[in-house]
Amino acid sequence: MCGIVGYIGSKQALPILIKGLHRLEYRGYDSAGVAILDGGLKLYKTKGKVSHLENFVKDKNTKGTIGIAHTRWATHGEPNNINAHPHFSRSKNLAIIHNGIIENYASLKEELIKRGYTFTSDTDTEVLIHLIEDIKISEKVELEEAVRIALSQVVGAYAIVIISEDEPDTLIGARKGSPLVIGIGNGDFYIASDATPIAEYTKDVVYLNDKEIVIIKRDKELKIRTIENKDKTPYIQKLELNLSALEKEGFDHFMLKEIYEQPHSILDSMRGRLNVKEGSIRLGGISDYEQKMANAKRIIIVACGTSWHAGLVGEYLFEDLARIPVEVEYASEFRYRNPIINEDDIVIAISQSGETADTLAAIELAKSKGATIIGICNVVGSSIARATHAGSFTHAGPEIGVASTKAFTAQVTILTLMALRFAQMKGTIEKSRFYQLINELEAIPEKVKETLSIEVQIKELARMFTYTRNFLYLGRGYNFPVALEGALKLKEISYIHAEGYPAAEMKHGPIALIDREMPIVVIATYRGAYEKVISNIQEIKARKGKIIAIVTKGDKTVKELADYVIEIPETEEMLVPLLATIPLQLLSYHIAVMRDCNVDQPRNLAKSVTVE
Ligand code: F6R
Repeated sequence: MCGIVGYIGSKQALPILIKGLHRLEYRGYDSAGVAILDGGLKLYKTKGKVSHLENFVKDKNTKGTIGIAHTRWATHGEPNNINAHPHFSRSKNLAIIHNGIIENYASLKEELIKRGYTFTSDTDTEVLIHLIEDIKISEKVELEEAVRIALSQVVGAYAIVIISEDEPDTLIGARKGSPLVIGIGNGDFYIASDATPIAEYTKDVVYLNDKEIVIIKRDKELKIRTIENKDKTPYIQKLELNLSALEKEGFDHFMLKEIYEQPHSILDSMRGRLNVKEGSIRLGGISDYEQKMANAKRIIIVACGTSWHAGLVGEYLFEDLARIPVEVEYASEFRYRNPIINEDDIVIAISQSGETADTLAAIELAKSKGATIIGICNVVGSSIARATHAGSFTHAGPEIGVASTKAFTAQVTILTLMALRFAQMKGTIEKSRFYQLINELEAIPEKVKETLSIEVQIKELARMFTYTRNFLYLGRGYNFPVALEGALKLKEISYIHAEGYPAAEMKHGPIALIDREMPIVVIATYRGAYEKVISNIQEIKARKGKIIAIVTKGDKTVKELADYVIEIPETEEMLVPLLATIPLQLLSYHIAVMRDCNVDQPRNLAKSVTVE
């Protein structure tokens, strides 16, 4: 939440910063701002998207070669011009951008008010920059030391960058809990919330660790110190990021592009791991831990949102195939409910961004109790990826649309590979069945491609239901998490109320909602509880609900009962989530487009939830 970017070098800073903000806009988009040193410290900020800021600064002729910029997702204070970042210090010599929350801002603010400070914004960030300046003046220390002392008084999460009129060749950054990456170019430096604003300029990056401060000086080596005042040697890594993955490449929206990328992203998550000829699955990232995982008495999966839905599919897979007991926990509940965690527990944390604050806190809690932590992340170098003992990257490529699509199918693919591998190791699966399943898994990318060809039909369906106010999504077994995911996708991008439910639970309450106005999406594919789902469809029909059924190609029974059917290719029951999710993603997408919603940047949301 909130995207921050900074630049120092020989080039004009403003275009680099604005482009960087566009790349980071998925992290927040309620207001944006920029501060550039150009003679004095020039600060421009506006409510609204980065494009508003871009228009606003177009004629400002800001030629400076050092600056900072921010795109905001409001926490403290409503989105308006005043609360937008950067924020000035009292003397206006310093400006700061911040991602995170200063939890003890109220007590710090009270102290500063007693010392004569006044505040123009409602933000916690303004408190921090006043505190830094106060320390700098009262203790007569350098800016870098003032930042260090101030941060040692701060409780909460932050990634910050500070610029100073008195030090025109210096940027100072720091992080705790929120990410910060530094790009080392040829005579210039970049600093940002993630590597996307940096990738086109340099491949050499340093990921700052928690409680580290970076001092970036023009034409000098990077300097890193900890808040406890220890020097650290910067660890330079090579960035692997394909620039075309950051563009829409002809699609109207990133979300649609990412939906269409799924045949490739699923393949990429299996590449080098699944070898059907040899009958082997190799997950290099967890090889040192796989014996422990396979023999675990219990696996706890922690995640949020869509990643939690993937975790639920994981529970069914691990229990079904490898006979390992699994609990799936919302990270936000787990971290605060005093859970029982044993040293021999395996905790799998699933996260696309690798930055979700609740998931990170759940990891820290489990780690403190001695559990082994395994990550399933998409973003390499992310905080969660680095906080785990081992893990498997999903390799789905950057996901920019705020609604998660290809990350979900990649997560489910990794969980399927893990479950099959542990089943093979433990001997809980017959050899012939193992071969059947891995052959079918290998065929999934082609079947996803085939599933995508129903887009025209889905568009028609979306037209019919554009202005519906409520939706129900039902599924059983492996299709229950799919129902949850379908409902979440619809809510978040089209703002239509939708609920996902286990189909059999319908009669314990939600059935009261059904009338001829209520569309009910039922995932009714072959195998598993197919017959039982048909009975549920009958119950809906008897109450005149409108049935949209996702069925297996060639199905006749459901076709006769449902008002609308969407066919997907036949596959193994446990692999159906990889296919059945696709039409639901497309349905939400087209309904949202027809309702004129901002598909890639839905209201109130941000892609990377770095606050709890
Ligand atoms: C839904 C969505 C969110 C995320 C959730 C977790 O489309 O994107 O529900 O799934 O915020 O994010 P990650 O996976 O980055 O931890």
